[in-house]
Amino acid sequence: MSDAVTDAVTVRVPAKVNVQLAVGAARPDGFHDLANVFLAVSLYDEVTATPAETLTITCEGPDADKVPLDRTNLAARAAELLAARHGISPDVHLHIAKDIPVAGGMAGGSADGAGALLACDALWGLNTPRETLLEICAELGSDVPFSLVGGAALGTGRGEKLTGLPVGGAFHWVFAVADGGLSTPAVYGEFDRLTEGVDVPEPTASPVLLDALRTGDTTALAGALTNDLQAAALSLRPSLAATLTTGTDAGALAALVSGSGPTTAFLVKDAETAETVAATLTASGTCRTARVATSPAPGGTVLPSA
Ligand code: C5P
Repeated sequence: MSDAVTDAVTVRVPAKVNVQLAVGAARPDGFHDLANVFLAVSLYDEVTATPAETLTITCEGPDADKVPLDRTNLAARAAELLAARHGISPDVHLHIAKDIPVAGGMAGGSADGAGALLACDALWGLNTPRETLLEICAELGSDVPFSLVGGAALGTGRGEKLTGLPVGGAFHWVFAVADGGLSTPAVYGEFDRLTEGVDVPEPTASPVLLDALRTGDTTALAGALTNDLQAAALSLRPSLAATLTTGTDAGALAALVSGSGPTTAFLVKDAETAETVAATLTASGTCRTARVATSPAPGGTVLPSA
């Protein structure tokens, strides 16, 4: 008997921040080897899969108009790749309730890919092995495996080879959402331009940073945050410098660009400070809006049906 669910499956998937993003030189395939320390944070998209005649996507949320509803959406590609593996047709309606900033460097598109994969797997009753799901995630994009796994992990290769990391406590964050997105390939391209003629070292994870995560030490983590794409993101979007300064002046322990940006991330000592820093950032006019979140957060999770 099939385990297929006949009505609807909803999966919740987290955003991420890179607490360390060490970027190596461009590889022959155009990608960059990374030492990418991912931390999942409590901003979530929800992907709901329901049976349909053909593959369709809808999206709701403040940034919904910026989300592609065609086959370029990673959620659509996830449904197609999963269906192809099982020799079935990807006839599903995917609805994305979007709360993660779009093109913000927080893996929102990747989250939707991982969410759609889990939702379709459950809807179609496939019970695909975890390793196969992770393979499909890696095929979808460098950050997608982490969206499935959540928590904290070191990503090597182009970021898709994951090793889970222990986290010894909760961290509090504020995210300043910028107007408009930044294209990830453009930011990597700017990194290449800025490092032309420079001997870029092999990317390696910082032992101090891994220790700070393991012990849950916010002050130590604040001192160890690094992002090798930050200079490139600031070069393409110089106004982010004012956002970073506003957050640290307001009491954040540290500030950095999240992934390829333009979202900026602020590590703060507690939930109360997070509210103060978020209010100051919002009032400053140096960002569109600010959101508070905690980490670590769980990876893609099928929600109990209503
Ligand atoms: O893997 P993903 O589709 O998310 O990557 C988007 C783009 O980001 C790639 O086409 C590439 O330009 C850049 N990238 C990179 N090195 C990585 C990951 C992404 O150059 N490790």
